[in-house]
Amino acid sequence: MAGIPEHIIDQVRERTDIVEVVSKYIPLKKAGRNYKAVCPFHHEKTPSFMVSPAKQIFHCFGCGAGGNVFNFVMKYERLEFPETVRDLAKRAGVDIPVTSGQSAEKASLSETLHSINEMAMQFYQKNLLSKASSTASREYIQKRGIQPKIVEEFKIGYAPKSWSGLLEFLKDKGCKDDHLEKSGLVIKNREGRFFDRFRDKIIFPITDSKGKIKGFGSRVMDSSMPKYTNSPDTFIYNKGNHLYGLKQSWEDIRDKNAAVVVEGYLDLLTPFQHGIKNVVATLGTALTLEQVKLLKRFTDNIIILYDADAAGENAAVRSLDLLIEEELKVKVAQLPKGEDPDSYVKKHGSDLFRELLDNAQDLFDYKIGILLKRFDSNKLEGKAKIASEMLPLISKIRNAILQSGYIKRLGDLLSIDEADLKKEMSKVKPDYTYRYQPVSPLEPETAKSRMAEKILAGLMLEDDIFIGPVRGNLRCEDFQDIAIRQIVEKLFFSFDKSMKITPSKLIDLFGRDEKICACIAELIATCDNLVDKKKSHVDCIEWIKERKLKDERKALCDEIKAAQDSGDDAKVVDLVMKYSNVVKEVKV
Ligand code: GTP
Ligand code: MN
Repeated sequence: MAGIPEHIIDQVRERTDIVEVVSKYIPLKKAGRNYKAVCPFHHEKTPSFMVSPAKQIFHCFGCGAGGNVFNFVMKYERLEFPETVRDLAKRAGVDIPVTSGQSAEKASLSETLHSINEMAMQFYQKNLLSKASSTASREYIQKRGIQPKIVEEFKIGYAPKSWSGLLEFLKDKGCKDDHLEKSGLVIKNREGRFFDRFRDKIIFPITDSKGKIKGFGSRVMDSSMPKYTNSPDTFIYNKGNHLYGLKQSWEDIRDKNAAVVVEGYLDLLTPFQHGIKNVVATLGTALTLEQVKLLKRFTDNIIILYDADAAGENAAVRSLDLLIEEELKVKVAQLPKGEDPDSYVKKHGSDLFRELLDNAQDLFDYKIGILLKRFDSNKLEGKAKIASEMLPLISKIRNAILQSGYIKRLGDLLSIDEADLKKEMSKVKPDYTYRYQPVSPLEPETAKSRMAEKILAGLMLEDDIFIGPVRGNLRCEDFQDIAIRQIVEKLFFSFDKSMKITPSKLIDLFGRDEKICACIAELIATCDNLVDKKKSHVDCIEWIKERKLKDERKALCDEIKAAQDSGDDAKVVDLVMKYSNVVKEVKV
């Protein structure tokens, strides 16, 4: 598992208590043997989220989320598995040896660069705040209306007007030339001498969602050009892979289930200061796929809020396709001419700003609005042009109902026949197929046997005394639910080998299969409420055996019919004998 040895993962799991960890994130209330809470993974008023200290699992009866402590932290903190293990290992005091997944050298370069950035941030921050340094920087911050608590939270700083201020500071801290150059914070001139990249600038550290500093943005304090300069791409920083402010905003994005995307540093900081905290900034570029994927970890709803100028309009339009392809719900909010989010919230306050967001247009209206301004929809060429711009966007909408709604609206707007638009759209994406599939309810008989499978598997997970009788009466293949069957296979296997396996460990054996992990937790939680476990156990075995016999009987009937049709009398007799044996066993 990504380089962390299995026994270390075991150690971390064994030394970690799920109740203790979960209660650091959400308030838990004792309810019988378990703990309850309002689920952090979906919106609800009454608690359907439970944590079992005995089984070391969590499960939500509302949204189906579930797993062990690793799954919880992964899901809550949006971390990958190895990061999660490292995190919990630290808390539990378990040492993790240097991994093989990332080579030691690479890991240390990444670590070194992060620590150089951290030191640089402290240097810049001290320079902004210290009375000894330039007052111009503090005046600039004040002039822009950035309050001290925002300076602190976003670790805003000032790079002094010196060719080697940072350079000397970092050298004093023992940083090597090679690493300094790789950090992008210093530049080597032709004579091989180093000097600071950022001089006499306001500094904005750019972090990942965990707060690790990846690079820096800087702004001049006058009207000189270029206005903003960023760190170059480095081993740890890739422009376009990060979103400014995500560390400070992700929780609000998750809670509000919406992210407002703006262009600039100040466009994020000023609304943030006014209490609108679910904002991220792309830093002047159109959204990249990596940024969209980052946002998708926290929400499906995006509100684009770009400057009210041609550049902003173009950037918004360019972002739409990508967002739609990633199946995000997109709206576009529009500012009055000449305003950006920073100036707007300063002038009109947070209520009007929120109103602006609430009135965000659906992407269809937004794009068509722009096109109607640019082309004459009364002329045939204009209609064709508008249709040719809209159809590729509409063709990317995966929900068939939404999609045909948009086609209808486009047809109405342009007075074009819907069928013609559909024909045109099929040219855009000839292989386009609808994904939408209605879910059909299970037959009552199937529902009953699924329930029996669930209960049996759950009981076997709860206590291994329940495994033996199941093993003696049923085979893995008798479990029709694929997830449950895989779980039963592992349980039978460990039973045969006389190995004890806790549900929490079993969850890890399924690695990153989130569905099976959630299934294990659900099974345990379901069985937790059973009144008479022994009786349920016996009944469920019987049910599944009966269903098996019924299935066999049905299969035999089909075979008999086929044999009769082909005139194979000997086979018919043979099958009828078998059939009567099966019928004897089925209680109807
Ligand atoms: P302020 O003037 O400080 O309010 O900046 P702004 O955010 O209003 O600037 P603008 O709308 O012109 O640009 C939006 C974003 O694009 C900025 O926040 C920067 O991230 C980026 N940007 C703007 N100008 C430059 C530039 O000259 N160079 C680079 N690399 N990025 C820029
Ligand atoms: Mn601005």
